[in-house]
Order: sequence, then structure tokens, then C-alpha cells
Amino acid sequence: MGLRRRLSIRQSRENFSKAAQENTRAIFVESLGNPKLDVLDIKAIAKEANAHKVPFIVDNTVATPYLLNPIAFGANIVIHSLTKYINGNGTALGGIIVDAGTFDWTNGKFPEFTEPSAGYHGLIYSEAIGPAAFITKIRIEGLRDYGGALSPFNAFQIIQGLETLELRILKHSSNALELAKWLQEQPRSHLGKLSRLRK
Ligand SMILES: Cc1ncc(COP(=O)(O)O)c(C=O)c1O
Repeated sequence: MGLRRRLSIRQSRENFSKAAQENTRAIFVESLGNPKLDVLDIKAIAKEANAHKVPFIVDNTVATPYLLNPIAFGANIVIHSLTKYINGNGTALGGIIVDAGTFDWTNGKFPEFTEPSAGYHGLIYSEAIGPAAFITKIRIEGLRDYGGALSPFNAFQIIQGLETLELRILKHSSNALELAKWLQEQPRSHLGKLSRLRK
């Protein structure tokens, strides 16, 4: 597909600013980075993406929608692996794309949304579909051409898992808090003072 990426080891606004080029077409981050669970300033990086007129895409797999809504902090597109917490039982693979409909695809950088699409009867997505242009193109061209659709049984497994997301995340969070408190008490702990630990 001719895609190239520039990796920024620390997900800071400065690093994204240095890495961005004329031909940059998206800024992509993980809200909690795999594998070190780095926490990033989503609002600051959203501003950087705005400045470059590119969509800000956040992989929110680890935080889950229960703990964090990246759209509230400026993300234009959010993706999740459903395979992990959302399914939660290890029986199915899947992914999801959530389009906030907030990105302006008509800013001159994305002709695939402003010129007739040869793959869909000359449809001009930005004119015909407006704010839902991206997610519609993903469905009617991407899904059709690449076939990345969930099987009904996997979809069923995942929706069953989703129903208990709240209970599981609350338990994971209270377990993590207990562990952090215990580690903090240990004489050789490197955690330092976790002053923002809540009860
Ligand atoms: C943050 C994050 N997003 C996406 C994926 C990919 O998930 P899947 O295996 O469902 O394709 C992973 C897998 O490790 C991940 O850690």
C-alpha cells in the first residue's frame, strides 16, 4: 500500500512534532502503550495532529472504553482490539474502528475523500456522506475489498464478553491498586511515592 511509518519511542508532543513531515497523513498512538503501559498526554498530541491537519488515531485497547474515551480528549478515530479486554475470554479475535466524525477530510490532503472514487461508482465521499465519510468508505470499500468481517459466531462471543466489561475492569483496577499499594510499602520499591493513588 506504500505506507511508511516513523516511530517515536516516547509519545510526546515534541517527538511527534519532530517526526511529522509534509507527506504525513495520520498520527497514531496507543493510549496506554504496549508493552510498558506508557501514559501519554492525549490532548497535547491531538493539538499537534490538528496543527498538521491529519487525523489523530488512538488505539485504546488497553485502557478500554470503560476507563477512557479518547474522543473527549481530541481523538478523531479510535480503534480497539476486541480480542483482549472487550471480549475477555480468549475465544475470538476481532477489532473495531470508531469514527468521531470530527476530522475535516476536505482540507486538501485527502483526495480519496474529495474526488470521485473509481471503486464506488464515482462517489465523492465528503460531498455525499459528510462527517461519516471515513467510516463509510471503510465499510463499503475496505470491508468489501479486503473482507475483514467478523464471523457471526465470533461477533456473538465478543458481544457476550462486552456485557461484563465493567465488572472485569473494576476488578482489574482494584487489584492493580492493591498491588501498587503493596509495592509502595516494599523497602526496595522503585515506585517512589504514588501520591495520586486513590483509596
Ligand atoms: C495495543 C494493541 N492494539 C492492538 C493489538 C492487536 O490485537 P489483535 O491481536 O486483536 O489483532 C495489540 C496486540 O498485542 C495491542 O497490544
